Amino acid sequence: MKIFVTRPIPQAGLDLLRNAYPEFKMNPEDRVLERHELLAAVKGLDGLLALLTDLIDGELLDAAGPQLKIVANHAVGFDNVDLKAATARGVLITNTPGVLTDATADHAWALLFAVARRIPESEQFLRAGKFQGWGPLMFLGGDVTGRTLGVVGAGRIGHHMALRSRGFNMRVLYADELVNAVLEKEIGARKVSFDELLRESDFVSLHVPLLPSTRHLINAASLRQMKPSAYLINTSRGPVVDEAALAEALRERVIAGAALDVFENEPAVHPGLLDLQNLVLTPHTASATIATRSNMATMAAKNLLAGLRGKRPQNLVNEEVWGKQRR
Ligand code: 8YV
Repeated sequence: MKIFVTRPIPQAGLDLLRNAYPEFKMNPEDRVLERHELLAAVKGLDGLLALLTDLIDGELLDAAGPQLKIVANHAVGFDNVDLKAATARGVLITNTPGVLTDATADHAWALLFAVARRIPESEQFLRAGKFQGWGPLMFLGGDVTGRTLGVVGAGRIGHHMALRSRGFNMRVLYADELVNAVLEKEIGARKVSFDELLRESDFVSLHVPLLPSTRHLINAASLRQMKPSAYLINTSRGPVVDEAALAEALRERVIAGAALDVFENEPAVHPGLLDLQNLVLTPHTASATIATRSNMATMAAKNLLAGLRGKRPQNLVNEEVWGKQRR
């Protein structure tokens, strides 16, 4: 079996692959491969372990060849994969759901507190030697306890982000196509329209996948619906937020602040965002804990091995392919 891993991933995943197929290949450098390098590397593969930074489209699948059985994505999101193209070619696509839910929900809260209590801004002030004495008006921020949390997308991660509000006695609103009965029962969360959520929330936290319907869900008009004292948190996908509109809204104080872990054109960040003080930024690290990334690597490797052995991978995304592979 010819296997390729596009970038070093945690050892636990690599060990699984090595035990099964000692000859597997990996890009040894800790960087995203250029498109031409990736197209060359996939030639003749049976299985590919890819990252969210690798575009998996028809061109790449064809470059690999008709023997390609599976692409195991080392991510829960799979917006880097052209699912239609993979399904049309009978290639199994898998993701890594569940294992990163807690880490990502935790990070959303870290961002929420960081922006509300102005942690990075006040730390920079202190490190720059500007703390010359306590002041009653110094770094006043927003309250968290008792306020309203609005969760957009009450799936796995949104659900667990919302549950964590229990300790802060918050009113929880959520916007989703589906009713989340557990959230309603456990914390009295109320399903509302997206517009009502924007109007009512002190914190709006995004947990939707990137779909045509969620691209620029947060734009100039939706930002204007939020309270001037509200904060926006995004740990989902960058293009869900119109960064130019957000930069403008933060500059004009249309909302109080925002915290972003994901960006529209990663690794680029809209230049209008970089010098804003009411914005906290992290480089797509919401799932970056040692244990979580190790579990993601293990899960992706297990999915890959199952697909190569003709077994149904546990986290198959394009289920309709199962049993209909070309080979
Ligand atoms: C990761 C993610 O940063 O899983 C996802 O969809 O966006 C993040 O967990 C990344 O995918 C790690 O490979």
